[in-house]
Amino acid sequence: MDDYTRFISSTASKIKASEIREILAVIRMRRDVISLAGGIPDPRTFPRKELAEIARRMIIDLGDQALQYSETKGILEVREMLSHFLFEFRGISVDAENILVTTGSQQALDLIARTLIDPGDIVITENPSYLAAIGAFKIRGARLVGIPIDKQGMDTYKLEEKVKELKSRGEKVKFIYTIPVGHNPAGTTMPPDRKKHLVEIAEKYDLLVVEDDPYSYFIYDETVDIRPLKTYDSEDRVIYLSTVSKILAPGLRIGWIASPKDLTRRFELVKQYMDLHSPTLNQFIVAEAIRSGLVKEHAHKLAPFYRKKRDAMLEAIKEYFPDNVWYTEPVGGFFVFVYVLKEGFDTSKLLEKAINKYRVAYVPGKSFHTDERGENSMRLSFSYPDSDTIKEGIRRISELIKNEA
Ligand SMILES: Cc1ncc(COP(=O)(O)O)c(C=O)c1O
Repeated sequence: MDDYTRFISSTASKIKASEIREILAVIRMRRDVISLAGGIPDPRTFPRKELAEIARRMIIDLGDQALQYSETKGILEVREMLSHFLFEFRGISVDAENILVTTGSQQALDLIARTLIDPGDIVITENPSYLAAIGAFKIRGARLVGIPIDKQGMDTYKLEEKVKELKSRGEKVKFIYTIPVGHNPAGTTMPPDRKKHLVEIAEKYDLLVVEDDPYSYFIYDETVDIRPLKTYDSEDRVIYLSTVSKILAPGLRIGWIASPKDLTRRFELVKQYMDLHSPTLNQFIVAEAIRSGLVKEHAHKLAPFYRKKRDAMLEAIKEYFPDNVWYTEPVGGFFVFVYVLKEGFDTSKLLEKAINKYRVAYVPGKSFHTDERGENSMRLSFSYPDSDTIKEGIRRISELIKNEA
């Protein structure tokens, strides 16, 4: 038998292959191509020896628990450690009871989607927004409404106008999904007045807010306000997500949700059928990495490390790119987002040529958009290649833009 289509559920049939994963698979074979596509951490940052030492101790000394099944919500000591961590690092005051440990924050997004979204519900996001969040919401039948960004992230006046309009039409708006600090893919950070305004909008129009915060732990510009929305949240409307993927290692697959107790309980009930619990051993490793100070020490080293790469990309953009390009100047995260201001310039159509003729890869920007637009945009990542490779990659992209626009 070679056709299984008739057995596939309607939900699974709607899922398309991720453009990024497809591109990464192709260019992995091509040593001559510079990839500015995947947004993965530079493995040189992984604290290997320290993690190996912690893992050994956890297995030998705490193996009875660390290698065992555990609570769906996450191990109590681990949630307590996360509660201290959130208070110390982000000023977020939540009890262990308000925390659910997840298998990366991608699972948190999926859990939130499964728990909150009914088909047809509206979810508001920045436009552009994080590809895999858009995917997780859409697969549950959400209709996405995007709010334009400028160099300071989501324009909250446009957000309020949109919410007002949707509510007056009787639309069911469930939540606002936002990455307020170090946005993916734009790299922008919202100033305090916008953060406050966003939370006020949620209160005024009875909405929840999903705050996704993987990048605020290392920011390239010290003057930027990294305070989470959650600290402005007097009515308990903000569901806060974060992860160790960028501050330790993504292969650990440990993230968490901090949310009001009732929601935490609902997420827990949904999670039990997904994976019973997140990996026990990795939860112990993460808790020990926090307790021993490894996370704090490590996060401090990340900002200067990635700042150099960000600077290399921006310098090369300023040197090589023609004038008809609009780009973000990230204060956090791994990405520069670019719009080529030329009618008909289509980064999806040009990707094959970019790889084969110009020997450079990027992620076409359309799938980061909520409204089928953005065909003239691309996401460029500076996290993985070294600075010289980044500069040469940008030079090649500039050739593509000059010749093909
Ligand atoms: C904004 C955002 N949210 C969530 C994730 C998923 O992170 P995790 O590795 O914890 O699943 C990423 C990863 O790149 C991200 O950029």
